[in-house]
Amino acid sequence: MKDTPRFVCQQCGNWTPKWQGQCYGCGEWNSIVEVVAHASSNAASLVDPDRPESIAELSEDDARRLPTGIGELDRVLGGGIVSGGSILIGGEPGIGKSTLLLQAAANFASANLEAEVLLVSAEESKPQIGTRARRLDAVVPNLMLYCESSCERIIREIQNRSPALVIIDSIQTIRSEALASAAGTVGQVRECAALLANVARVTGVSIVLVGHVTKDGVLAGPRTLEHLVDTVLTFEGDRRHGLRSLRAEKNRFGSSGEVSLFEMTSSGLVEISDASARLIRDRRVGHPGTAIAVTVEGHRPILLEIQALVSAEHHASGKRTAIGVDPQRLSLIVAVLERRIGVLIGGRDLYVSAAGGFRVEDPGVDLAVALAIMSAVTEVVLSPGLVAWGELGLVGELRAVSHAQYRYDEAVRLGFDECLIPQADAFLGNKALLGGRAKGVDSITDALKLCGMMLEMPA
Ligand code: TYD
Ligand code: MG
Repeated sequence: MKDTPRFVCQQCGNWTPKWQGQCYGCGEWNSIVEVVAHASSNAASLVDPDRPESIAELSEDDARRLPTGIGELDRVLGGGIVSGGSILIGGEPGIGKSTLLLQAAANFASANLEAEVLLVSAEESKPQIGTRARRLDAVVPNLMLYCESSCERIIREIQNRSPALVIIDSIQTIRSEALASAAGTVGQVRECAALLANVARVTGVSIVLVGHVTKDGVLAGPRTLEHLVDTVLTFEGDRRHGLRSLRAEKNRFGSSGEVSLFEMTSSGLVEISDASARLIRDRRVGHPGTAIAVTVEGHRPILLEIQALVSAEHHASGKRTAIGVDPQRLSLIVAVLERRIGVLIGGRDLYVSAAGGFRVEDPGVDLAVALAIMSAVTEVVLSPGLVAWGELGLVGELRAVSHAQYRYDEAVRLGFDECLIPQADAFLGNKALLGGRAKGVDSITDALKLCGMMLEMPA
């Protein structure tokens, strides 16, 4: 059969019929390389074609869920892995993706002894994985190891063995014979992911793809794959600390935004079922520059400590460092404090961090961030029993956020006795929504007054 040459941009994966200096897709120069597609190993020939069927004749159990037995993983997935679904799990190298998936694979295999789990590794050898599996107590006879990097051979093995679950570690280290380029290039990563997601859909096997992400998240990375798979999870945390969070960025079979916490220990990853208790465990009461926030990630309220520090000396322009909180929201909060309250942070360095290496996306933490900064500036210590939530607007107003009652109940469960919150969250019409420990305020000014942190306004 005749080979057809194709030209693929190594930045964005765009294909063109002939070579050109600049890619039309992403505008990058000199990123297009020639790859040779072998017609005989074309994607379509590996998978049986679909045929049209009446919607009325479809069986109901099409979206069957397979629990992995790791409760926090299943919760993020929306109840387990969907059969025929494809999941991409992205994260920095060394964060613990292989560990999590080996534990999940072994758990699943031991709960479903009649089924087979195929763990494909193109990164580690069988003895390496075997040693790790013994350490993690993950030795199960129906967990099959396969060290192979050819996508076509992997697909043939899937078709021959019909496993219930396949794990590919990682998508950057396997390559399809259809393209001449090396493993890890955008063209290869996309081709292999598309082939495997298609095999999952057609054969009903569930496939988990591991993808390494660099700090900026772009290089030949999972970002180019998000539309090819059903679910995208990210695994993140500070590698020097044990805490890890697993977040659903996209989920066709459940809600996105769900977060689970794990702890990396010497015997693998351990689920943290009480996230709030873990995140405020190490807080030191009685110090200025800290406030407890209540955030909602997915459907779950989580308490966490926000810490702030301002340097004493002034520079021409102060540095702003945000760890775990959105840097843009931090700039907004600083601007509101400067313009509406009159506090001058300007030339001082400011550090704000969500303690424990947890990343918050919910703007409901704004009020706690503002309180932590003001506590650092004024050295006024907040009451140890106080939690705060609320989104800060540009006029200094506090806006209502979602799930106020969930947040309140979580704060009370953990023994907090005062909730400083937007007025609109405390009342709806004339009816008090929450219990007696909530104090509603309209603006950041009122919140600071209540905490004894209001500075004199400049003339
Ligand atoms: P790994 O799962 O190999 O990361 P990834 O696949 O995301 O690259 O995990 C690597 C780190 O985890 C490594 O630094 C060692 C640590 N680790 C533990 O602390 N405890 C364990 O039980 C295991 C298996 C790994
Ligand atoms: Mg790995």
